[in-house]
Amino acid sequence: MAVAERFGTRWPPSRFFVAVLLVLLTDGGAAWKRAEGLSMGINYGQIADNLPSPARVSYLVRSMQVSKVKLYDADPYVLSAFVDTDVEFVVGIGNENVSAMVEPAAARAWVERHVQPYLPGTRITCITVGNEVLKGNDSALKASLLPAMQSVYQALTAVGLQGRVNVTTAHSLDIMGSTYPPSAGAFGPDAVPYLQPLLAFLSAARSPFLINCYPYFAYKADPGNVPLEYVLFQPDAAGVTDASTGLRYDNMLYAQVDSVYAAIQKLGHTDVDVKVSETGWPSRGDPDEAGATPEYARTYIGNLLQRIEMGQGTPMRPSAPVDVYVFALFNENLKPGPASERNYGLLYPDGTPVYDVGLRGYLPPMDYSQGTREGVRFFVFISLVAIVSITLSLS
Ligand SMILES: *[C@@H]1O[C@H](CO)[C@@H](O)[C@H](O)[C@H]1NC(C)=O
Ligand SMILES: *[C@@H]1O[C@H](CO)[C@@H](O)[C@H](O)[C@H]1NC(C)=O
Ligand SMILES: *[C@@H]1O[C@H](CO)[C@@H](O)[C@H](O)[C@H]1NC(C)=O
Repeated sequence: MAVAERFGTRWPPSRFFVAVLLVLLTDGGAAWKRAEGLSMGINYGQIADNLPSPARVSYLVRSMQVSKVKLYDADPYVLSAFVDTDVEFVVGIGNENVSAMVEPAAARAWVERHVQPYLPGTRITCITVGNEVLKGNDSALKASLLPAMQSVYQALTAVGLQGRVNVTTAHSLDIMGSTYPPSAGAFGPDAVPYLQPLLAFLSAARSPFLINCYPYFAYKADPGNVPLEYVLFQPDAAGVTDASTGLRYDNMLYAQVDSVYAAIQKLGHTDVDVKVSETGWPSRGDPDEAGATPEYARTYIGNLLQRIEMGQGTPMRPSAPVDVYVFALFNENLKPGPASERNYGLLYPDGTPVYDVGLRGYLPPMDYSQGTREGVRFFVFISLVAIVSITLSLS
């Protein structure tokens, strides 16, 4: 009788064997490392109490061929788990820490603690100072946004990292006063006084303008009138033509991005790149949240990935591939708000896909990687289990 069969009768886990085999075969995850990953970014949010450890997520993300990850903080466990990988990182300073960063010494300390030690091993390429600050009502916070960005930039300069790490902030599309048609895009009057000097900074620092764009919100707000095909990138979308430019839009995301380009241009800048720091579609929602279904989420993300693979630009910037960070890697069970908020993930916390867009990753069963103590324990555990099982099955 083969050893495996003996195991099978005594000890249920043939899955266990598969796991061990995978561990041995993966050889540090190298097997998954293709020469070139998908140039898709993903937001790795962690507002949850059931997510796998960063060491395991590092394997998962690389096995999915995701080449760029955006964090909302600068979690040292995450940054260390990606050392010596090709994955690029956007790290964040939370809104609660923005005002403190105005103080140059605080910004310097933050950069020295959260960025400098990880370079060049972990490829941090951008820092976002705050998230959607200008959407909120906190005028003291809004006023501190640009000074904080400037202090962070000066701190990078002081340690020779300016130009190697960009400094920016991510905006909500709510800062727009008008988005339609795209050529008429304009920032809201409340936001302009903040954005005018902020754009001058981005232009001088050669850093991108980040915008969080959710065509889903437009659909949810008015499902009777917003064409589903248009928000879902479907080939049969009638689309819209911008009468003043003659440019045709077959999807809402590109129209939103171009409206931001138009708004930036109205404030005098043509040299600032716009990147989509978040976009996504929830796979579940409350009964009153139209369109939050796995089918629509799969269609949105699947079609978006195809566009990313094609390296498409928007009608206004056809030669510049749209740079997109999908929201989000995991469903996050502790996010407040409507049910949709907890269901933007491509993956469940166990690493399995919420819907199939061909992005399958491998989440290792336990922390055997990174030479962590857990890893050592896992190997000791495997060895003991193997010895005990063999002994039992032979007796
Ligand atoms: C950020 O803010 C939190 C909450 O106020 C605080 O505990 C933490 O020390 C701050 N971090 C930095 C780097 O200033
Ligand atoms: C901001 O203030 C307005 C009225 O001043 C209020 O209606 C709105 O809910 C506030 N928004 C937030 C995010 O607090
Ligand atoms: C910084 O942003 C600019 C403008 O988008 C971009 O060209 C450059 O590659 C970015 N730098 C890094 C290090 O990612």
